[in-house]
Amino acid sequence: MSNPTERRERLKELYATSRGCVRCPQLAETRRQVVFGAGNADADLMFVGEAPGKHEDEQGLPFVGQAGKLLDQLLAEVGLARGDVFICNTLKCRPPGNRDPHPIEIDNCQGYLFDQVAYVRPKVVCTLGNFATKLLRGDQTGVTRVHGQEELRVIGTRAVRLYPLYHPAAALYTRAMLDVLRADFARIPELLALPEPDHPAPDAPPEPAVPEPEIAAEPGVAADPEPEPATAPQLGLF
Ligand code: URA
Repeated sequence: MSNPTERRERLKELYATSRGCVRCPQLAETRRQVVFGAGNADADLMFVGEAPGKHEDEQGLPFVGQAGKLLDQLLAEVGLARGDVFICNTLKCRPPGNRDPHPIEIDNCQGYLFDQVAYVRPKVVCTLGNFATKLLRGDQTGVTRVHGQEELRVIGTRAVRLYPLYHPAAALYTRAMLDVLRADFARIPELLALPEPDHPAPDAPPEPAVPEPEIAAEPGVAADPEPEPATAPQLGLF
């Protein structure tokens, strides 16, 4: 599945599947919509935040509030724009009142993220804040100890350069943190210029972590739940 057109189609199908997700009953009940992620489907650089907030839940797009404005500014400072990158979150649904994601919710949602990595194939994945950093590093070390230190990690079947960063929301109100985030950001072009790491099983076709929508067992018997059509309107073109 190395063809970018095919990977983009898979990403669109995953988007359509995610829109009907009810794995986390509370989030499915309280969200306005699933915030799948947005940007370039063939990006070399992916950002993974925590979870949608109020504005993201309203607009269906990641990082559209104050933290998003700062992210845009930091991207511009290294010569990049949203259309160059893919931006998503650890959780695709807003936790009510912006509470922290629960561990079970992170577990329920991680398949979407792993499939996004498999389909977009970024070279560099920047985790923003503790939740994404802990999930994708696979341990409980906080971002304060590992920010700005790139490492090779395997996510699903893809080897990537993982680059933990402070969350822009944390940097909004703390000048010292903003300075550190900006300095860490300044190294992104250098990381993007490094050769792509070797992948563990280059020939094995990746198994989607999120199962494909079930096909009806008999003609005329609808699969339950009804999958969203892959042609569902798509936000934040990817
Ligand atoms: N914070 C996040 O982690 N993600 C968003 O999409 C917005 C704010």
